[in-house]
Amino acid sequence: MYETLCSPITLGNVTLKNRLIFAPTTMGLSDEDYFKKIEDIAAGGCSMIIIGDVPVLPARFGHSLYSKKGFAYYQKLAETVHRHDCLICAQLHQTDTNLKGMIKYIPGVLTKKISQQELRPLLNAQVAPYISGLPVKKVKKITAAFGTAAVLAKKAGFDMVQVHGDRMCGSFSSAVFNHRTDCYGGSAENRFRFAVEAVSAIRSQLADFPIDFKLAVRQENPHYGNAGVLDTELPLFVPMLEAAGVTSFHVTLANHSSLEDTIPGAKHPYFSEEGCFLKFCDQVCKYTKLPICGVGGLVHPDFIEQQLADGRIQCAAMSRQLIADPQWMNKVAAGETGKIRRCVRCNKRCLGGMMAHQGVHCIYDNRLSGTNA
Ligand SMILES: Cc1cc2nc3c(=O)[nH]c(=O)nc-3n(C[C@H](O)[C@H](O)[C@H](O)COP(=O)(O)O)c2cc1C
Ligand code: SF4
Repeated sequence: MYETLCSPITLGNVTLKNRLIFAPTTMGLSDEDYFKKIEDIAAGGCSMIIIGDVPVLPARFGHSLYSKKGFAYYQKLAETVHRHDCLICAQLHQTDTNLKGMIKYIPGVLTKKISQQELRPLLNAQVAPYISGLPVKKVKKITAAFGTAAVLAKKAGFDMVQVHGDRMCGSFSSAVFNHRTDCYGGSAENRFRFAVEAVSAIRSQLADFPIDFKLAVRQENPHYGNAGVLDTELPLFVPMLEAAGVTSFHVTLANHSSLEDTIPGAKHPYFSEEGCFLKFCDQVCKYTKLPICGVGGLVHPDFIEQQLADGRIQCAAMSRQLIADPQWMNKVAAGETGKIRRCVRCNKRCLGGMMAHQGVHCIYDNRLSGTNA
């Protein structure tokens, strides 16, 4: 019944056993809880897990591919996922937060005078000056690091890398944030140079490795997202990325307004529908024949099968639905869709848990029943 969803697909030179991918999801959990959650998702039948926000530069905090301990962490993650016949992809990420500019807010955050919701716009306000003033030497160091990080990710056991096309790539691409007057700013071609150099750096080091690109599209009328590219810029951007070595695209709304826009709840004024960002896939596919993965509020097997069978997308990615029920794919393949715990897009304990520094959970956690809400 779910023939397309259950069928394999080749991205670059790797074959996924079916069309369901776990979207990049930072969880804010302890290592032990995170490994358990990722293992549950791998065991639940999806074909690939994208590990969110793997830093491209050596990082003092969190897990770094460059340190012995961090490398061993990612190696263990890859082994854990592979044990369940599931592939693993590293989302290579460079923040566009000006860490030095953040220091002045730390006392306010620690004393809770500034909430997470209040902090975000304060940080967003610094993106344009930070991106516009970054020295060229530093820019080149970052784009080259995408290549180094990809080599390390491959060594650690990752099957693919995804370039996080939002964050620094997205801010450089966006005329809203990028006010540079050198070869990285001004014309669209110049603004896209950062993303293209990042992809080229990977391709020059790894001739055959699959490179996915998280393509963040900014919408006008009504305006949503500040990073990323406009749909009118896609005819230039997509072929440039493909020529640089991208082998598949993961398409979504651009970031830097509210997180509730890129992770929309069921009551979102504009993106409440299932498959709310697929219209951006419809735009991207005009300019490439490469496989495209859709994401955003995907929940129901019948709806997803239809989008895949119609050729609108070649893969479907889910974050919250697999947090709500890691066994989604196994239940679909077994014809037990009635047993799926459906994500109701309440954002209460996943995004809500992350914002409250409690880590990602779900309203279904601790429930014994395996049926719908
Ligand atoms: C808790 C949480 C953390 C996320 N972390 C990341 C991340 O690290 N990188 C990223 O590109 N997207 C991240 N996302 C966005 C998801 O990949 C996805 O695009 C979004 O949640 C919409 O898909 P969904 O409706 O299936 O949840 C995160 C989403 C959630 C809910
Ligand atoms: S808390 Fe709500 S939105 Fe988040 S995964 Fe669970 S059901 Fe979905």
